[in-house]
Amino acid sequence: MMPVTNEVAGEKITQNVLASFENAPDARLKEVMTSLVLHLHAFLREVNVTEEEWMAGIQFLTRTGQMCDDARQEFILLSDTLGVSMLVDAINHRAGGGSTENTIFGPFYRDGAEEMPVGASINKDGKGDPAVVQGRVLSTEGAPIANATLDIWEGGANGLYEQQDPDQPEMNLRGIFHTDDQGYYRFVAIRPVSYPIPDDGPVGAMLRALQRKHWRPGHIHLLVKAPGYNPLTTHIFASGDEFLVSDPVFGVKDSLVVDFNRNESEEEAAKYGVQAPFYTANFDFILKPSGK
Ligand code: BEZ
Ligand code: FE
Repeated sequence: MMPVTNEVAGEKITQNVLASFENAPDARLKEVMTSLVLHLHAFLREVNVTEEEWMAGIQFLTRTGQMCDDARQEFILLSDTLGVSMLVDAINHRAGGGSTENTIFGPFYRDGAEEMPVGASINKDGKGDPAVVQGRVLSTEGAPIANATLDIWEGGANGLYEQQDPDQPEMNLRGIFHTDDQGYYRFVAIRPVSYPIPDDGPVGAMLRALQRKHWRPGHIHLLVKAPGYNPLTTHIFASGDEFLVSDPVFGVKDSLVVDFNRNESEEEAAKYGVQAPFYTANFDFILKPSGK
């Protein structure tokens, strides 16, 4: 098809671009690109973009790419802070049926955490307030799931993940646990603290320009898996955290907010191999059978 001419404030340009996709052999690519161009063009018309604004956008995306390396993924941070990561998650992991809600994966997971016995501590440097976290992994029918895997990661008491902080031991605050025959799990972590997401790049500049906060509410990350069930990527958040209402990556779901209760009993602490005062949190993870 011959392209039509570029008339009246670009009215025809959208049609020309869509026509250029006509012979695309991959139907899904064609569908996605068509929708992308329709929305992108509509957005630029809606805001009546100036040339300076368009160039500022190009420069912002260029800086975002330049900020990326093996340890830093500024594009994912951009996706997170614009709610795109949570939207993609919601589209692909509809909870429902009483299963525990998913939330954002984040950039700080590492493969290869140590397998640990029930009740072990993931805290290698002893900093932070000890927190005993326990509960069960259950199916949506309420049946306990034995030998489910909980892969856990958490930031340190100073708000940094171990790979961001040369002063923390390698693989600090990471561990893999399994449920027992009745589906019970237990581990010792630290009471989660709020921490800032990286704000020294273009995403930080964007947050400041929008007067948005860059602190995440304290949380523990978990990846819960069992054969025959959909894997669950989630957090438990500590109740009472001032940033629960302004998470810069929109990861908070009310159902994932848990009380970390203070306990000052030395006797109780000794049962868990920790020192008083310590904190306890209880949370059951509910998994949905695969394919449902
Ligand atoms: C995190 O929870 O670790 C996180 C998630 C998204 C962006 C930055 C950090
Ligand atoms: Fe985190």
